[in-house]
Parts: sequence; C-alpha cells; structure tokens
Amino acid sequence: ASTLGAAAAQSGRYFGAAISTSHLGEAAYVNTWTAEHNGVTPENEMKWATVEPNRNQFNFGPGEQIVSQGRSKGMKIRGHTLVWHGQLAGWVSGLDASNLRSAMQNHIAQVAGHWKGQLYAWDVVNEAFEENGTRRQSVFQQKLGDGYIEEAFRAARTADPNAKLCYNDYNTDGVNAKSTGIYNMVRDFKSRGVPIDCVGFQSHLSSSSNLSSYQSNLQRFADLGVDVQITELDVGGSGSGQANVYRQVTQACKAVARCTGITVWGVTDKYSWRSGDTPLLFDGNYGKKQAYTAVLDVL
Ligand code: XIL
Repeated sequence: ASTLGAAAAQSGRYFGAAISTSHLGEAAYVNTWTAEHNGVTPENEMKWATVEPNRNQFNFGPGEQIVSQGRSKGMKIRGHTLVWHGQLAGWVSGLDASNLRSAMQNHIAQVAGHWKGQLYAWDVVNEAFEENGTRRQSVFQQKLGDGYIEEAFRAARTADPNAKLCYNDYNTDGVNAKSTGIYNMVRDFKSRGVPIDCVGFQSHLSSSSNLSSYQSNLQRFADLGVDVQITELDVGGSGSGQANVYRQVTQACKAVARCTGITVWGVTDKYSWRSGDTPLLFDGNYGKKQAYTAVLDVL
C-alpha cells in the first residue's frame, strides 16, 4: 500500500492524525490528512473548555466540522476527551462535590450523547495518574474521590453504547510505576464489570526514548481483555534516530493483536504543539520524512 491508512488497513488497523479546525482552510493540510490517514482525533475541539464553556451551554460546532469530514471519508474517529484536568472550563473548578458530580454526569451525557453512534472510541478519562502510579490530585479526584473514573465510564457507556471507552495517558511507554498504576485500575475494572474497552498510550516521545518494554507493556494490558491504541504519537528529533523510534512503535503495535490503531498528534511539523521539536511524519512543506518511510515500511 502507498499510504499510511491503506497500509494499516491491510492488517485491520487504522492510522489517524490529530486535526485542528484552525488549518482546515489550507488545502495541503486537508489533502495530506485525507490522502494518508483513515482516522482522526480532534486536537482540541472536544475538550471541556471548548464544548461546555458555560454550565449546560454546549458548543459542538468545531468538533462537528472534524467529525463530518472524517465521517465523509469513512474514517475512524476518536473522541478526545470527556474528563480531564487540562483545558477544563473555569466554572467547573469552583463547584462543590455534589454539583461537580452532576456537572460531570451531564457533560458526559450531553457530549457523548451528541455524537452517539458516530465515534469509534472516546478517551473517557485523560491523564488521571501521577508518575509514581498514584492518582493525580485533580479537582475531580479531590472532590469526588477514587470513584470518579468508574462513574465517568459508566456514564459514557449509557450515553454512547457503541463507542469503545478508553483510558488515555502519557509516559506510559513501558512497564513503569505509572503504567502499573493504570494497569491495576484496568484489572480492577475488568474484574468488577466496570465498562472499559481500551487503553490509549499517548506516546509523546523523543529520539532517545527507551522502548525496551514498550511492546510488553501493550501486551500486558491486552492480556487483561482490553484493546490498546497509540493515541498521540510524536517523536522529537530528525533523521534516522527519529525514524527508528517511529519504527519501533509501529512494530510494537503490529506485534500486539489487540493494538487496533495508531494516531499521530498532527500532520505537519509546522503546526505541531511541540514547537521546535519537528516530531511528525511530514515536514513544514508536507514533504515525507525518513520517519514516514519507516512507518509505511513496517505497517
Ligand atoms: C494539546 C494540543 O495539541 C495543543 O494544541 C493544546 O494547546 C494543548 O493540548 N496530551 C493530550 C492532548 O491529551 O490533548 C494534548 O494536546 C497534548 C498532551
């Protein structure tokens, strides 16, 4: 196959990109996205601050732009994200526990309900763990306690029964304290019937990342009975060092039967959130980098 999406599809997987509405007016951006990828994640458009800037006042327009284009191309769409401490609307942090709980429930019901049946997966909860494997002390954790994550997953299942429900985090690129904390939560959820279907590994990496236990980490989660996905892949660097890390991640996903797809966190280096890191597969002129060829060869 001659595109990332078509190559991934040969093994039943998808290859997606994070897309921002800010660049949809640029033909080369849209063309590279749609020609090369068969998946999409809205980079910011479904985050709480954008989608519910004021309590019970919803703004689905930006997300809708990406969902409609993605659907028209038959792409797998990942919703990102329902419950996260980042890019959270200011009003949420001031609520007391009972108002926060009902606001979270309402947010999930309305947002996941809005796109019901249209998304492949939702990142239901994002970045809820610390590096040492304990819970991050977000407003949700502090006011609602440990149970907020399972409450969020149950609410998401009710709102969109067909979307795969994922937990998503970063610095989980091997067997380490953080990934083990998450692993223990997923194992507990599976044993108690809490609805979780997948775990997302953001994979914000660099050319010097040590990936010696990357594949075995994906596999141990898959062995719990969940799918795994690479959800925000980018690799700081250039040339063969960068290409090699991209190659290893792609190989790891292909080697794990339940690794269903890879999403890169942007299309072109010029619009990457990691400014100066040139971490993506296409350069600022949409030229294919060495890393692109490495990924395509392995897919
Ligand atoms: C980033 C976006 O790429 C930026 O445009 C935005 O300013 C900040 O958020 N982990 C995540 C993503 O889950 O939502 C973040 O995206 C990158 C880190």
